[in-house]
Amino acid sequence: MTAVSQTVDFSVEDGVGVITIDSPPVNALSSHVRDGLFEGMKAAIADDAVKSVVIICAGRTFIAGADISEFGGAQKGASLFDAQEAIENSTKPVVAAIHGTALGGGLEVALTAHFRVAIASARFGLPEVNLGLLPGAGGTQRLPRVVGAEQALHMMTSGAQIGTKEALASGLIEEVVDDLRAGAIAFAQKVVAEGRALTRIRDNDEKLKSARENASLFSDFRAKNARKFRGFDAPEANIKCIEAAVNLPFDEGIKVEREEFGKLMTGVQSAAQRYFFFAERQAQKIPDVPKDTPKRDIKSVGIIGGGTMGGGIAMNFANVGIPVTLVEVKADALERGLGIIRKNYENTAKKGRITEAQVEERMALISGTLEFSDLADKDLVIEAVFESMDLKKDIFKRLDDTLKPGAILASNTSALDLNEIASVTSRPEDVIGLHFFSPANVMRLLEVVRGDKTGKDVIATSMALGKKIGKAPVLSGVCPGFIGNRILFQRQAQAQKMIMQGPLPQDVDGALTNFGFPMGPFQMSDLAGLDIGWNKEKSNGETLRDVLCERDRRGQKTGKGYYDYDENRKPIPSDEVAEVIRDFAAKSNLPQVTLTEEEILKRLLYPMVNEAAKILQEGIAIRPSDVDVVWVYGYGWPRYWGGPCFWADVIGVDKIVAELEVLAKEEGAVWEPADLLKDLAAKGQGFKDFAAG
Ligand code: 3HC
Ligand code: NAI
Repeated sequence: MTAVSQTVDFSVEDGVGVITIDSPPVNALSSHVRDGLFEGMKAAIADDAVKSVVIICAGRTFIAGADISEFGGAQKGASLFDAQEAIENSTKPVVAAIHGTALGGGLEVALTAHFRVAIASARFGLPEVNLGLLPGAGGTQRLPRVVGAEQALHMMTSGAQIGTKEALASGLIEEVVDDLRAGAIAFAQKVVAEGRALTRIRDNDEKLKSARENASLFSDFRAKNARKFRGFDAPEANIKCIEAAVNLPFDEGIKVEREEFGKLMTGVQSAAQRYFFFAERQAQKIPDVPKDTPKRDIKSVGIIGGGTMGGGIAMNFANVGIPVTLVEVKADALERGLGIIRKNYENTAKKGRITEAQVEERMALISGTLEFSDLADKDLVIEAVFESMDLKKDIFKRLDDTLKPGAILASNTSALDLNEIASVTSRPEDVIGLHFFSPANVMRLLEVVRGDKTGKDVIATSMALGKKIGKAPVLSGVCPGFIGNRILFQRQAQAQKMIMQGPLPQDVDGALTNFGFPMGPFQMSDLAGLDIGWNKEKSNGETLRDVLCERDRRGQKTGKGYYDYDENRKPIPSDEVAEVIRDFAAKSNLPQVTLTEEEILKRLLYPMVNEAAKILQEGIAIRPSDVDVVWVYGYGWPRYWGGPCFWADVIGVDKIVAELEVLAKEEGAVWEPADLLKDLAAKGQGFKDFAAG
């Protein structure tokens, strides 16, 4: 065995040159891996004893793509194209031996090999779109030639992976082998023995014929996915490249790919999306809770309250095979809760995402009870009853009396003081906040709220469990609203204030949706219902909400709220609402202003950035990127803007501070910039330079 680079070895076995990449954690195409591939191919060609070549990886996966952390830096060593050319133009057959996930540049390397074999569990994908990119190493031209344009469109604009069954059917792989190394070597020998032709994917465009004959393929695809792709640059660039694959010769298509890749790579969207990839992973790292912190075993879960949140939370656990016991106070509430869970699963089955058998399997894991004592032996209990401190304290006292030692006691409270809740128990170290977002079975975010006394093992267990159930867990300290809602309160306050100053709900919502949010605060309010927490008997027209609810404008459910709605639930700006707002505005002492969309946006987003800074200076969030993960996954901040802290750095923290100071002079202390923000601005820095003190 010879080392051909820092992470790549070359050996010869029975006439087969084996290039082995061993670059943990995921064998990404760092400079030394590219060098190794290039040098390994040179060694294989130079050695007369070598009749064929196998490229294989050690560790958990085949090459998972380009090394994202190298992007933006100066290129060192062999380029990926050098390595690919050496493989594709080799006079000796090259076999890629795949396990784990062949992703991005990894799959693109495999597509330059003459043959591919894989073990049954292998998966294949071009996920660059999720990083705001497109496959930039020939993948846009080669994948459609293997799987056809339709399938390539689906895979490349969604990042979806396929398994070996589909890969085998399309010809992406030639064989499934049991033992990867031995199977790949045997396959390479067989290819030589049979004298098989060295097929290059680039030379065969048979599979593109049907796309050439389907004039509306691309326009239909664009129209069908317009909503999904809204705001993102990368999906369209991927589509353009597949169109080029269909309509142009290979080398011309590659030119289009290079040009489009270059544009994306230097743009802010991809910078934001690449930042977000690492942000999500960074959030798992908690400085004082090391990776090897012991975790508790969670084999059974109890949930108290089978309402909107409790039901959704239960589904998360059943989905990964963990049995759940749901406790309610009344039989009808329990029945309703279980009924909604079943309906949700059945709807998923109707869409073909799970089978009917899976519906039954998952329902069988969820049992309902009215007996609190049924929670006694559970490893984790999550409370999801009404947002009332008294009620929650009562429940936690009972949990303390009922649960076995070592159980974790969690609350799903959205804003209450977790320390106060924990204080009624004799075991505050076992108490933690697990703040799910609605709908809890869908939303990725999980705020893990650490009380003053929460044990490190409880934090480590909760973070790992969050990941296991498919969430993006982010650690927060205790404060009203934690990270996400505390920032939301600021935006809400400004939105409510602003409509008293001239702009209308549609102006405020429009500024946010044009920025990339799925909806604005007034659309959201109409969806949730304006009457949540509204009391008809006590309503006396004192607030805008009172008046709207009194006029039965209680949101989408009454056909009107801040907006009127047509039969397709399309919001239409309402003259009636505008008039009611004008009346209130006249009575308020607020200055009336005419604002452009940009100014509206500033008044909504700058207070959020400011609050994020306060949250960081208080140590509630560990790092700016954690705030960003919360806002992207919990509230629909557009991923291509990275999150409020990333965005603030793009705008410039100094510029934001200057504008906040102007607004503070005009409209008062609420606009006063946070100390951290002022400090960063004074040093000419941004959130990226923040180091927790
Ligand atoms: N570059 C650099 N680091 C990477 C990486 C990559 N492509 N992929 C993963 N890593 C790092 C992660 O940051 C993480 O580091 P950490 O332990 O310090 O936090 C570590 O590898 C393990 O990653 P995960 O925690 O995500 O491990 P999983 O086992 O859950 O998932 C995976 C493995 C499926 C490979 C997942 O990491 C993944 O999806 N990676 C990204 C794949 C990708 O996007 N590839 C395309 C890259 S762009 C490209 O190839 C351009 C080309 O067309 C030119
Ligand atoms: P909900 O009103 O839909 O459900 C609460 C359920 O708790 C009801 O079914 C009720 O019967 C049950 N319940 C009340 N007292 C009980 C008791 N003593 N024992 C057992 N069950 C009892 O409320 P929702 O929306 O599910 O909220 C629950 C918690 O989740 C609250 O703390 C809320 O702040 C929080 N939350 C809510 C979100 C949302 O969007 N609805 C988002 C995130 C958190």
